[in-house]
Amino acid sequence: MFHIKTFGCQMNVYDSEKISGILCSLGLRQSKDGELSDIYIVNTCAVREKSEEKLFSYLGRLNEIKKKKDTIIGVAGCVAQVEKDKIFKRAPSVDFIIGPDSYKDLSSIIKDAIKKREKIISTKRHKIFQELDNILPLRKNNFSAYVTVMEGCNKFCSFCIVPFARGREKCRKFNVLLSEVNNLSKNGFREITFLGQNIDSYRDPETNLSLKDLLAEANNIQEIEWIRFITSHPKDITEEFISSLSRLEKITKYIHLPVQAGSNQVLEKMKRGYTREEFIRKIEMIREIIPDVSIGTDVIVGFPGESDDDFSKTLELLEKIKFDNLFSFKYSPRPGTAAYKMKYDVPNSEKIKRLMEVQNKQNEIQLQKNRQFLGKIVKAFVTGLSKKDPHVFSGRDEGNRVINLKANGNVLGKFIRVKIESVGPHSLNGYLEEIID
Ligand code: SAH
Ligand code: SF4
Ligand code: F3S
Repeated sequence: MFHIKTFGCQMNVYDSEKISGILCSLGLRQSKDGELSDIYIVNTCAVREKSEEKLFSYLGRLNEIKKKKDTIIGVAGCVAQVEKDKIFKRAPSVDFIIGPDSYKDLSSIIKDAIKKREKIISTKRHKIFQELDNILPLRKNNFSAYVTVMEGCNKFCSFCIVPFARGREKCRKFNVLLSEVNNLSKNGFREITFLGQNIDSYRDPETNLSLKDLLAEANNIQEIEWIRFITSHPKDITEEFISSLSRLEKITKYIHLPVQAGSNQVLEKMKRGYTREEFIRKIEMIREIIPDVSIGTDVIVGFPGESDDDFSKTLELLEKIKFDNLFSFKYSPRPGTAAYKMKYDVPNSEKIKRLMEVQNKQNEIQLQKNRQFLGKIVKAFVTGLSKKDPHVFSGRDEGNRVINLKANGNVLGKFIRVKIESVGPHSLNGYLEEIID
């Protein structure tokens, strides 16, 4: 039996589904809640110090299990790739370490770990995307699926560990992607989310076809109803691309476009490759072409040297743009990145204060925006069920807004219409009006 614990972004969720697929192909089965497993794999995230620390506290718990039962513990993902054998030193109970480029070797590593019981490490890098031929991801559900289209990043923003953890950009082949989506549609999936750290850079390695072409082809697959894609980069997103989206009815009207900061000085030190003014122009262009588009972003507070004045520019920008959602983070220095060596670190207490200010401002904006939905009927795709109350479901609308709803009977995996009765900054709440299909 095996158990996989997943930290980090959607790409890790997808990778964990692949890892599960590999383990199933070895004849192992996924353990149920509370069952002790023979193999534990932790799929890790290195993006902030806190994400990395989650690995070590979880390993502490696994260590306790290992005292009771002879188990194999593996560390996969981004921390595995960047920390390599340092993990063995901090957590001697770990048996193997495997980076995101090496999952192809996972079956042989597991076999070796079972046989020889010696420490194994596999963090070799590859220039091309490593397909797991003949392995089907073991999906968490059968209605909404992530599909990685490209992995890695060539941008090297000065704060970011992703180019070190995931390596340079590696794109999957167009045909492979289409056949994966076709298979998903045949198996009943209705919603696809394409993933890539810089998804606008996607190019088919063989034909040079782009993300626009991929979305256009996926749009033709009958059973698929909604197609999402994350994450776009403000520097790379073009008018031509946005215009093509406006003609594809299944591509949801949500664009995730991380701005990170509102001050040009900070943006430059972050090496983001755009100015505040250029970012604003991009948003205006997107809203002009797709008027009811929903736009989300990411913001970092407390980047080295961020003054009060710089920070106030971030708040001003949020006020000006009025994003539909926002993820905000305290800057966390990552060893090996360019910003790690930068001086003038902002004190933690100041970072906390700025984070609260960003979140308060954004909550106000979202609450105001969400109020426009009161009394309206919205279409949503239901992806979750409340654990506490079997009549409460959750899903998302086309603009990626969280929709909570009450319904009698099971609406999981269904497209529905919801009458909105109340709203908060982070959700629209209502009751089932109609099941579409
Ligand atoms: N382009 C990527 C970004 C991945 S990291 C994508 O696919 O989404 C997600 C977010 O984490 C970034 O947008 C940034 O806001 C935040 N982040 C990255 N490095 C960080 C750091 N060192 N400290 C704090 N936040 C960070
Ligand atoms: Fe990190 Fe920047 Fe690449 Fe995004 S674009 S993954 S923030 S280096
Ligand atoms: Fe984290 Fe790696 Fe994703 S660092 S955010 S799990 S790409």
